[in-house]
Amino acid sequence: MKMSSFRWNCCYFLLINIFLLNLTVRSQLTTDFYNSSCPNLFKIVRKEVVKALINEMRMGASLLRLHFHDCFVNGCDGSVLLDGGEDSEKSALPNVNSLRGFDVIDTIKSSVENACNGTVSCADILTIAARDSVSLSGGPSWKVLLGRRDGTISNGSLANLVIPSPFDPMDTIVSKFTNAGLNLTDVVSLSGAHTIGRARCALFSNRLFNFSGTGSPDSTLDTTMLTDLQNLCPQNGDGNATAVLDRNSTDLFDNHYFKNLLNGKGLLSSDQILFSSDEANSTTKPLVQSYINNGSLFFGDFVKSMIRMGNINPKVGSDGEIRKSCRVINS
Ligand code: HEM
Ligand SMILES: *[C@@H]1O[C@H](CO)[C@@H](O)[C@H](O)[C@H]1NC(C)=O
Ligand SMILES: *[C@@H]1O[C@H](CO)[C@@H](O)[C@H](O)[C@H]1NC(C)=O
Ligand SMILES: *[C@@H]1O[C@H](CO)[C@@H](O)[C@H](O)[C@H]1NC(C)=O
Ligand SMILES: *[C@@H]1O[C@H](CO)[C@@H](O)[C@H](O)[C@H]1NC(C)=O
Ligand SMILES: *[C@@H]1O[C@H](CO)[C@@H](O)[C@H](O)[C@H]1NC(C)=O
Ligand SMILES: *[C@@H]1O[C@H](CO)[C@@H](O)[C@H](O)[C@H]1NC(C)=O
Ligand SMILES: *[C@@H]1O[C@H](CO)[C@@H](O)[C@H](O)[C@H]1NC(C)=O
Ligand SMILES: *[C@@H]1O[C@H](CO)[C@@H](O)[C@H](O)[C@H]1NC(C)=O
Ligand SMILES: *[C@@H]1O[C@H](CO)[C@@H](O)[C@H](O)[C@H]1NC(C)=O
Repeated sequence: MKMSSFRWNCCYFLLINIFLLNLTVRSQLTTDFYNSSCPNLFKIVRKEVVKALINEMRMGASLLRLHFHDCFVNGCDGSVLLDGGEDSEKSALPNVNSLRGFDVIDTIKSSVENACNGTVSCADILTIAARDSVSLSGGPSWKVLLGRRDGTISNGSLANLVIPSPFDPMDTIVSKFTNAGLNLTDVVSLSGAHTIGRARCALFSNRLFNFSGTGSPDSTLDTTMLTDLQNLCPQNGDGNATAVLDRNSTDLFDNHYFKNLLNGKGLLSSDQILFSSDEANSTTKPLVQSYINNGSLFFGDFVKSMIRMGNINPKVGSDGEIRKSCRVINS
């Protein structure tokens, strides 16, 4: 009796140890990484994000998107912030004339450098700024994992391959997330980021007049919204006008993005297909429905997915560097 209980305990401990070891190997980031090296880090970043949002509420959306486009390309390593090069991420198709907020990141970085010279990576600053942008816009808050180091390579061709396009069909979007180590729940919860921010006509005007060669607009688009968008985005226009991603509560981070999908009011094709495509019935539609019914469920899942996205391929230890300027690698 005693012996078998001992054996069981022994295996139990062994299993727990393997489990813990596995966790530490997989995620070397910690919430208190800068506790002693930069004790005021969170206050400094938040103060600058508050300033940026007072100046322009949309900036919260722009900073959140910057973090997403950083993480999908070679992991969250600040590579999206690097200037220059013909094949830089900044010049890649999903990013050029599209990503915003680089100047805000510069301002945050210099405040952080003033307090703790050479200590905090640009990748971590972007992660904290994205979290603060969500919570200051009325969304959930959470403890961010930190300790990422900055990468030295900006790869525009890779960005073109891995960042989802609003014209992608469902299976392509899902596989781009799967390739990044994320799953279907992450696709839907993170798409909820489109509860704030704006998109240019060029990225949805294909839905407004002659959708997929049908000679008619996208039939899943609400007719009132269609008329508004046709006026905003004339066929001979330059495609640079912007429409809000969530018409109901533009700058508020809430679950209305999902309620819009139920009413045919998703702006991008990649938004509306989460509810209206044939593939959605057995995959994403039930998740969308659950976030419509329960805003807390959306917030909880969004936080978990943001943490998973923030954990994509972090550079730690002696990998990478702590950049002095977020725009250039150290010499
Ligand atoms: C599911 C695949 C996704 C696609 C196809 C997609 C596509 C887009 C497009 C085309 C825009 C407008 C860009 C422009 O006008 O130049 C946009 C904006 C935005 N995206 Fe996404 N996105 C996706 C997922 C995400 C994720 C995962 C996040 C963050 C967690 C995110 C956050 C945002 C935000 C906040 C904006 C507004 C930015 C601003 O106003 O500056 N998106 N997205
Ligand atoms: C780091 O700081 C946080 C918040 O101030 C605190 O809760 C935590 O216990 C600290 N961790 C360590 C290891 O000092
Ligand atoms: C940080 O330290 C370096 C030398 O280690 C110095 O050149 C630089 O001016 C310092 N920056 C700030 C903001 O204090
Ligand atoms: C950039 O990404 C492409 C596509 O994966 C790859 O072929 C290329 O080697 C990468 N370039 C650099 C400098 O890492
Ligand atoms: C995605 O991964 C999370 C965390 O492992 C899990 O809770 C969730 O059920 C997964 N979703 C799907 C659709 O497999
Ligand atoms: C719609 O596009 C298709 C394919 O590009 C084209 O053949 C057709 O003439 C267009 N219809 C209209 C009404 O413009
Ligand atoms: C749209 O705006 C960008 C700059 O934001 C500009 O480079 C581009 O030429 C504009 N497009 C057109 C068609 O005017
Ligand atoms: C947003 O939706 C709510 C119902 O969910 C509605 O009462 C409200 O009028 C809508 N606001 C706008 C600006 O569309
Ligand atoms: C998906 O659901 C809609 C509405 O319930 C239905 O009209 C459509 O036929 C379904 N499509 C498939 C492929 O099951
Ligand atoms: C909504 O989701 C939260 C978080 O998962 C859960 O605790 C709560 O019971 C759900 N509420 C309803 C009405 O289902």
